[in-house]
Amino acid sequence: MWVRKLSRKLIVLKLGGSVVTRKEKPFTANLPAIRRLAKEISDAKLSQLMIVHGGGSFGHPLAKQYAIKEGYRGDPTQLFGFSKTRQAMMTLNKLVVDALIQRNISVVAVSPSSFIVTKSGRIATMTDEPLKKLLQTGFVPVLYGDAVLDFDLGFTILSGDQLAAYLAVQFSAEQIVMGIDVDGVFTADPRVEESASLIRHCTLQELKKMHTRIVDTSSTDVTGGMLGKLIELTPAIEKGISAFIVNASKPKNVYKALRGESVTGTLIQKT
Ligand code: IPE
Repeated sequence: MWVRKLSRKLIVLKLGGSVVTRKEKPFTANLPAIRRLAKEISDAKLSQLMIVHGGGSFGHPLAKQYAIKEGYRGDPTQLFGFSKTRQAMMTLNKLVVDALIQRNISVVAVSPSSFIVTKSGRIATMTDEPLKKLLQTGFVPVLYGDAVLDFDLGFTILSGDQLAAYLAVQFSAEQIVMGIDVDGVFTADPRVEESASLIRHCTLQELKKMHTRIVDTSSTDVTGGMLGKLIELTPAIEKGISAFIVNASKPKNVYKALRGESVTGTLIQKT
Protein backbone atom coordinates (compact mmCIF):
# COMPACT_ATOMS: atom_id res chain seq x y z
CA MET A 1 0.00 0.00 0.00
CA TRP A 2 1.10 3.53 -0.78
CA VAL A 3 2.49 5.14 2.39
CA ARG A 4 2.24 8.85 3.12
CA LYS A 5 5.32 10.57 4.44
CA LEU A 6 7.80 13.36 3.63
CA SER A 7 6.65 17.02 3.53
CA ARG A 8 3.14 17.70 4.78
CA LYS A 9 2.81 20.54 2.33
CA LEU A 10 0.80 20.12 -0.83
CA ILE A 11 2.45 19.68 -4.21
CA VAL A 12 0.44 20.20 -7.38
CA LEU A 13 1.81 18.13 -10.24
CA LYS A 14 0.81 19.05 -13.78
CA LEU A 15 1.54 16.40 -16.38
CA GLY A 16 1.57 17.91 -19.85
CA GLY A 17 -0.58 16.46 -22.58
CA SER A 18 2.56 16.08 -24.69
CA VAL A 19 3.88 13.65 -22.08
CA VAL A 20 0.79 11.53 -21.40
CA THR A 21 -0.34 11.39 -25.04
CA ARG A 22 1.35 11.09 -28.41
CA LYS A 23 0.66 14.62 -29.48
CA GLU A 24 0.94 13.98 -33.21
CA LYS A 25 -1.43 10.97 -33.16
CA PRO A 26 -5.07 11.84 -32.36
CA PHE A 27 -6.55 9.97 -29.39
CA THR A 28 -3.39 8.03 -28.67
CA ALA A 29 -2.21 7.81 -25.08
CA ASN A 30 1.45 7.32 -24.28
CA LEU A 31 0.81 4.35 -22.02
CA PRO A 32 4.46 3.52 -21.29
CA ALA A 33 4.98 7.11 -20.12
CA ILE A 34 1.76 7.10 -18.06
CA ARG A 35 2.76 3.82 -16.37
CA ARG A 36 6.32 5.00 -15.70
CA LEU A 37 5.03 8.26 -14.21
CA ALA A 38 2.55 6.37 -12.03
CA LYS A 39 5.47 4.39 -10.61
CA GLU A 40 7.54 7.54 -10.07
CA ILE A 41 4.63 9.20 -8.27
CA SER A 42 4.11 6.12 -6.14
CA ASP A 43 7.82 5.87 -5.31
CA ALA A 44 7.91 9.54 -4.27
CA LYS A 45 5.46 8.78 -1.42
CA LEU A 46 4.16 12.31 -1.00
CA SER A 47 1.83 13.10 1.85
CA GLN A 48 -0.18 15.76 0.01
CA LEU A 49 -0.47 15.63 -3.74
CA MET A 50 -2.86 16.82 -6.41
CA ILE A 51 -2.42 15.82 -10.04
CA VAL A 52 -3.65 17.72 -13.10
CA HIS A 53 -3.02 16.38 -16.58
CA GLY A 54 -3.31 18.05 -19.94
CA GLY A 55 -5.28 17.19 -23.04
CA GLY A 56 -2.63 16.48 -25.66
CA SER A 57 -3.97 14.54 -28.63
CA PHE A 58 -7.24 13.78 -26.78
CA GLY A 59 -8.33 17.33 -25.98
CA HIS A 60 -6.73 19.77 -28.39
CA PRO A 61 -7.77 18.44 -31.81
CA LEU A 62 -11.46 18.29 -30.84
CA ALA A 63 -11.34 21.63 -29.05
CA LYS A 64 -9.85 23.14 -32.18
CA GLN A 65 -12.21 21.42 -34.61
CA TYR A 66 -15.31 22.69 -32.79
CA ALA A 67 -13.82 26.04 -31.66
CA ILE A 68 -14.72 25.25 -28.06
CA LYS A 69 -12.29 27.75 -26.53
CA GLU A 70 -13.81 30.62 -28.49
CA GLY A 71 -17.22 29.89 -26.95
CA TYR A 72 -20.69 28.92 -28.10
CA ARG A 73 -21.80 30.74 -31.23
CA GLY A 74 -25.23 29.15 -31.35
CA ASP A 75 -24.07 26.39 -33.68
CA PRO A 76 -25.51 23.08 -32.42
CA THR A 77 -22.56 21.12 -33.84
CA GLN A 78 -20.44 22.96 -31.26
CA LEU A 79 -22.58 21.48 -28.49
CA PHE A 80 -21.79 18.06 -29.85
CA GLY A 81 -18.11 19.06 -30.03
CA PHE A 82 -18.23 20.08 -26.36
CA SER A 83 -19.67 16.65 -25.49
CA LYS A 84 -16.96 14.91 -27.51
CA THR A 85 -14.15 16.99 -26.01
CA ARG A 86 -15.35 16.28 -22.47
CA GLN A 87 -15.70 12.59 -23.21
CA ALA A 88 -12.21 12.40 -24.77
CA MET A 89 -10.75 14.02 -21.65
CA MET A 90 -12.57 11.57 -19.42
CA THR A 91 -11.21 8.69 -21.51
CA LEU A 92 -7.65 9.98 -21.07
CA ASN A 93 -8.26 10.66 -17.39
CA LYS A 94 -9.38 7.07 -16.91
CA LEU A 95 -6.14 5.78 -18.43
CA VAL A 96 -4.09 7.99 -16.10
CA VAL A 97 -6.16 7.08 -13.04
CA ASP A 98 -6.07 3.35 -13.90
CA ALA A 99 -2.26 3.47 -14.02
CA LEU A 100 -2.09 5.24 -10.64
CA ILE A 101 -4.47 2.72 -9.08
CA GLN A 102 -2.26 -0.08 -10.46
CA ARG A 103 0.46 1.45 -8.27
CA ASN A 104 -1.78 1.39 -5.20
CA ILE A 105 -2.20 5.15 -5.00
CA SER A 106 -5.52 6.25 -3.47
CA VAL A 107 -6.53 8.51 -6.34
CA VAL A 108 -9.94 9.99 -7.07
CA ALA A 109 -10.80 11.33 -10.52
CA VAL A 110 -12.41 14.77 -10.35
CA SER A 111 -14.05 16.41 -13.37
CA PRO A 112 -13.25 20.14 -13.43
CA SER A 113 -16.37 20.96 -15.46
CA SER A 114 -18.60 19.61 -12.69
CA PHE A 115 -17.45 22.11 -10.06
CA ILE A 116 -15.88 25.02 -11.94
CA VAL A 117 -17.46 27.74 -14.10
CA THR A 118 -15.25 30.28 -15.87
CA LYS A 119 -15.88 33.88 -16.92
CA SER A 120 -14.25 34.84 -20.22
CA GLY A 121 -11.95 31.86 -19.81
CA ARG A 122 -10.83 32.55 -16.24
CA ILE A 123 -11.96 30.47 -13.26
CA ALA A 124 -14.83 32.40 -11.68
CA THR A 125 -16.55 29.95 -9.34
CA MET A 126 -15.28 26.77 -7.82
CA THR A 127 -16.88 24.59 -5.17
CA ASP A 128 -13.76 23.72 -3.24
CA GLU A 129 -15.20 21.69 -0.35
CA PRO A 130 -15.06 18.26 -2.04
CA LEU A 131 -11.42 18.73 -3.08
CA LYS A 132 -10.48 20.06 0.34
CA LYS A 133 -12.11 17.09 2.00
CA LEU A 134 -10.44 14.66 -0.41
CA LEU A 135 -7.02 16.08 0.46
CA GLN A 136 -7.72 16.12 4.18
CA THR A 137 -8.82 12.49 4.04
CA GLY A 138 -5.60 11.48 2.31
CA PHE A 139 -6.73 11.03 -1.28
CA VAL A 140 -4.84 12.19 -4.35
CA PRO A 141 -7.31 14.04 -6.59
CA VAL A 142 -6.63 13.71 -10.33
CA LEU A 143 -7.99 16.53 -12.48
CA TYR A 144 -7.39 17.65 -16.03
CA GLY A 145 -7.69 20.48 -18.53
CA ASP A 146 -11.36 20.40 -19.52
CA ALA A 147 -14.17 21.85 -21.58
CA VAL A 148 -16.12 23.91 -19.03
CA LEU A 149 -19.15 26.19 -18.89
CA ASP A 150 -18.44 29.92 -19.03
CA PHE A 151 -20.62 32.82 -17.82
CA ASP A 152 -19.75 35.03 -20.82
CA LEU A 153 -18.85 32.56 -23.55
CA GLY A 154 -21.32 29.79 -22.90
CA PHE A 155 -18.46 27.36 -22.73
CA THR A 156 -14.70 27.36 -23.22
CA ILE A 157 -11.52 25.38 -22.57
CA LEU A 158 -9.94 25.56 -19.13
CA SER A 159 -6.27 24.65 -19.45
CA GLY A 160 -4.65 22.31 -16.99
CA ASP A 161 -2.04 25.02 -16.42
CA GLN A 162 -4.57 27.61 -15.26
CA LEU A 163 -6.24 24.96 -13.14
CA ALA A 164 -2.98 23.77 -11.55
CA ALA A 165 -1.94 27.32 -10.62
CA TYR A 166 -5.40 28.13 -9.28
CA LEU A 167 -5.54 24.98 -7.16
CA ALA A 168 -2.03 25.64 -5.85
CA VAL A 169 -3.13 29.09 -4.63
CA GLN A 170 -6.51 27.91 -3.34
CA PHE A 171 -5.00 25.09 -1.30
CA SER A 172 -1.76 26.89 -0.30
CA ALA A 173 0.57 24.50 -2.09
CA GLU A 174 4.30 24.62 -1.54
CA GLN A 175 5.22 23.97 -5.15
CA ILE A 176 3.83 23.35 -8.61
CA VAL A 177 5.79 20.76 -10.54
CA MET A 178 5.21 21.10 -14.27
CA GLY A 179 6.15 17.96 -16.15
CA ILE A 180 6.53 18.80 -19.82
CA ASP A 181 8.37 17.32 -22.83
CA VAL A 182 11.34 19.69 -22.85
CA ASP A 183 13.99 20.33 -20.20
CA GLY A 184 12.54 23.66 -19.03
CA VAL A 185 12.58 27.29 -20.13
CA PHE A 186 15.33 28.26 -22.58
CA THR A 187 16.84 31.64 -23.37
CA ALA A 188 15.76 31.11 -27.00
CA ASP A 189 14.15 28.32 -29.01
CA PRO A 190 16.69 25.45 -28.75
CA ARG A 191 15.33 23.94 -31.99
CA VAL A 192 16.33 27.05 -33.90
CA GLU A 193 19.17 28.71 -32.03
CA GLU A 194 22.21 26.68 -31.12
CA SER A 195 23.23 29.19 -28.47
CA ALA A 196 19.98 28.68 -26.55
CA SER A 197 20.64 27.67 -22.98
CA LEU A 198 18.45 26.30 -20.22
CA ILE A 199 17.46 28.73 -17.47
CA ARG A 200 17.93 26.73 -14.29
CA HIS A 201 16.66 29.29 -11.85
CA CYS A 202 14.89 32.60 -12.20
CA THR A 203 12.81 35.07 -10.26
CA LEU A 204 9.43 36.38 -11.26
CA GLN A 205 10.93 39.68 -12.32
CA GLU A 206 13.44 37.99 -14.58
CA LEU A 207 10.65 35.84 -15.97
CA LYS A 208 8.50 38.84 -16.84
CA LYS A 209 11.38 40.37 -18.79
CA MET A 210 11.64 37.16 -20.79
CA HIS A 211 7.97 36.91 -21.79
CA THR A 212 8.46 38.60 -25.12
CA ARG A 213 11.28 36.27 -26.10
CA ILE A 214 9.66 32.95 -25.34
CA VAL A 215 8.25 31.27 -28.41
CA ASP A 216 6.13 28.22 -28.96
CA THR A 217 5.28 26.52 -32.18
CA SER A 218 2.69 23.84 -31.54
CA SER A 219 -0.22 24.32 -33.92
CA THR A 220 -2.74 22.07 -32.17
CA ASP A 221 -2.26 23.54 -28.71
CA VAL A 222 -5.32 25.72 -28.13
CA THR A 223 -4.13 26.82 -24.70
CA GLY A 224 -0.92 28.68 -25.35
CA GLY A 225 2.34 26.68 -25.14
CA MET A 226 5.30 27.67 -22.96
CA LEU A 227 4.51 31.38 -22.77
CA GLY A 228 0.94 30.54 -21.78
CA LYS A 229 2.31 28.25 -19.10
CA LEU A 230 4.52 30.94 -17.62
CA ILE A 231 1.73 33.52 -17.65
CA GLU A 232 -0.59 31.05 -15.92
CA LEU A 233 2.01 30.24 -13.27
CA THR A 234 2.69 33.89 -12.44
CA PRO A 235 -0.16 34.49 -9.92
CA ALA A 236 0.86 31.40 -7.95
CA ILE A 237 4.53 32.38 -7.94
CA GLU A 238 3.51 35.88 -6.79
CA LYS A 239 1.93 34.23 -3.76
CA GLY A 240 5.25 32.55 -2.90
CA ILE A 241 4.52 29.17 -4.49
CA SER A 242 7.54 28.01 -6.49
CA ALA A 243 7.17 26.45 -9.91
CA PHE A 244 9.53 23.75 -11.07
CA ILE A 245 9.43 22.91 -14.77
CA VAL A 246 11.01 19.55 -15.59
CA ASN A 247 11.15 17.15 -18.51
CA ALA A 248 8.65 14.44 -17.56
CA SER A 249 9.46 12.46 -20.70
CA LYS A 250 12.83 11.61 -19.15
CA PRO A 251 12.69 8.85 -16.54
CA LYS A 252 13.12 9.75 -12.87
CA ASN A 253 12.78 13.51 -13.35
CA VAL A 254 9.29 13.72 -11.88
CA TYR A 255 10.29 11.39 -9.05
CA LYS A 256 13.28 13.58 -8.20
CA ALA A 257 11.30 16.81 -8.50
CA LEU A 258 8.60 15.46 -6.18
CA ARG A 259 11.23 14.32 -3.68
CA GLY A 260 13.01 17.68 -3.80
CA GLU A 261 16.14 16.03 -5.20
CA SER A 262 18.42 17.78 -7.63
CA VAL A 263 17.20 17.51 -11.23
CA THR A 264 17.67 19.43 -14.47
CA GLY A 265 14.85 21.90 -15.02
CA THR A 266 13.76 25.51 -14.45
CA LEU A 267 12.91 26.61 -10.92
CA ILE A 268 10.93 29.84 -10.74
CA GLN A 269 10.60 31.59 -7.41
CA LYS A 270 9.10 34.88 -6.30
CA THR A 271 12.45 36.41 -5.33
C1 IPE B 1 -6.27 21.23 -22.49
O1 IPE B 1 -5.53 21.15 -21.33
C2 IPE B 1 -7.57 20.51 -22.33
C3 IPE B 1 -8.38 20.44 -23.56
C4 IPE B 1 -7.99 20.82 -24.74
C5 IPE B 1 -9.72 19.90 -23.41
P1 IPE B 1 -4.00 21.63 -21.33
O2 IPE B 1 -3.88 22.92 -22.07
O3 IPE B 1 -3.54 21.62 -19.93
O4 IPE B 1 -3.31 20.47 -22.17
P2 IPE B 1 -1.79 20.29 -22.65
O5 IPE B 1 -0.98 19.94 -21.47
O6 IPE B 1 -1.36 21.61 -23.27
O7 IPE B 1 -1.89 19.19 -23.66
